[in-house]
Amino acid sequence: MEDTGFIFKDMIAWDKVVAPYRAQHLSLIYERRQNLLASEQWEGWRVGNLRPLFEPILWFMKPYRIGGTLADNVLQYGTGAYHEQALLDYGQGSNNIIHLQAHANDSGLHPTQKPLKLMKLLIELASVPGQVVLDPFCGSGTTLVAAMQLNRRYVGFESNQDYYQIANDRLDRERQRQRQGKLLFAANE
Ligand SMILES: C[S@@+](CC[C@H](N)C(=O)[O-])C[C@H]1O[C@@H](n2cnc3c(N)ncnc32)[C@H](O)[C@@H]1O
Repeated sequence: MEDTGFIFKDMIAWDKVVAPYRAQHLSLIYERRQNLLASEQWEGWRVGNLRPLFEPILWFMKPYRIGGTLADNVLQYGTGAYHEQALLDYGQGSNNIIHLQAHANDSGLHPTQKPLKLMKLLIELASVPGQVVLDPFCGSGTTLVAAMQLNRRYVGFESNQDYYQIANDRLDRERQRQRQGKLLFAANE
């Protein structure tokens, strides 16, 4: 991102609240191998990684002109500030840790599918309606669905034909849901 001229602004930690944990107890491995000496020696140790409870979210912004300010940037590009109220609306503090647990509906379409609510929060944090959200690695299309729900325009790329189809189907369903919502609203008028 820096090579293309963007400036690193911040790193947000997404605290997933829960995460699968598969690190094996070393002593149990040796016990199964009947190496009791090693089992005793390595009691309290595990192989593998620590519980992966957070994911980093890197935040970049357009560079500002020499002598310019962040506030000038917002006027020039329409982005570069953060919407504090969005954090509060999603029950977060005004800080760079987001505590958000995935919902049951946030899985099953892609192995690294992100929670829809997380993507909506991030979009509302940094953009206003009508702006463009780009996801160059969109997978099952979570970011694009979030953008559609929030009246942002969106562009997505996906190299895997199956996920491309899944993302398109999700967007179709969302489009249909919104149309039905509008029809119901019109019928109630
Ligand atoms: C981490 S996943 C995205 C998951 C997504 N956030 C979701 O909620 O479903 C990244 C995706 O990028 C795709 N991908 C990897 N390299 C790509 C490339 N060069 N161009 C387009 N898509 C790519 C992979 O096929 C994968 O589905």
